[in-house]
Amino acid sequence: MADKKLECVKVEKENGITWVLLDRPEKRNAMSPQLHFEMDETLKALETDPETRVVVIGGTGGYFSAGQDLKTFFRDNENDPAAFKAAAEAANRWRWERLYKYDKPTIAMVEGYCVGGAFMQLLGADFAIAAEDAVFSLSEINWGILPGALVSKAVADTILPRQALYYACLGEPFDGIEAARIGIINFAVPAASLRAETVKLAEKLMAKSPAVLRATKHAVRQVRGMDFGQAYDYLAAKGNEIKVIDKQDSYRTGLSQFLDDKSYKPTFEPFKAKDE
Ligand code: COA
Repeated sequence: MADKKLECVKVEKENGITWVLLDRPEKRNAMSPQLHFEMDETLKALETDPETRVVVIGGTGGYFSAGQDLKTFFRDNENDPAAFKAAAEAANRWRWERLYKYDKPTIAMVEGYCVGGAFMQLLGADFAIAAEDAVFSLSEINWGILPGALVSKAVADTILPRQALYYACLGEPFDGIEAARIGIINFAVPAASLRAETVKLAEKLMAKSPAVLRATKHAVRQVRGMDFGQAYDYLAAKGNEIKVIDKQDSYRTGLSQFLDDKSYKPTFEPFKAKDE
């Protein structure tokens, strides 16, 4: 991926954070088939890239994304089911399958427009921060489809039913402050501090044990679909898994730094990793 020329995606790496930016600002970062193929390949490669500890999904030109490209994704493929299927598979794979179970923490950084299909990567990412003046819209109702792929499902699973129905059925735009209020993002900040606040969150995540963080985010997501018996069993197994694969031996290190060294308080901060 690193050596391939990307036309619709920009990748920037800095201090463990990799910024993956949709890059069609002249189309408000509407997502074309080409963009989906590039995003899918890019995220696949970054998942095992040693320089990447946190992935931030955003867009260039001050726009998150105006959703699916209504021309190149929908209309141009109306008579080409094979091309449509290939594009839709890549679109769903990177926005949901990859992001939902990504091995590294992911943050959606939203400025400008976040419309329609862009809610998939918004909600596929583990965390989301937006500019207070960002513009969110489930616009599908306004141009004649329902919020498809998994947009309706992801929205319904994230916010209260009244809010989900209201915004999906009315298609009214709302800003970052409202997005935080209804719980579709973690928090909204003034546009001028969006990048700095995103870096701050990424740094907090990078201070955690990667193995424990990975297991925790997978666990919180997976237990949603389980009953209590399944969840007890899964969480016990997942907890044991960490003890086997965790290079930092976080459990014993954390306990020892608290109980023996008395060097930190877990209520307020993470233990200090051995290699620091
Ligand atoms: N699909 C295809 N093209 C899009 C697009 C989309 N989702 N969103 C924007 N564009 C294109 C416009 O057609 C325009 O192209 P042009 O320069 O060739 O005419 C260009 O991007 C700029 O858009 P424009 O509408 O002029 O910019 P704006 O800043 O005034 O408005 C939006 C931006 C996002 C509010 C408006 O373009 C819009 O409502 N787009 C549709 C978004 C949508 O419903 N997406 C849901 C898809 S699931």
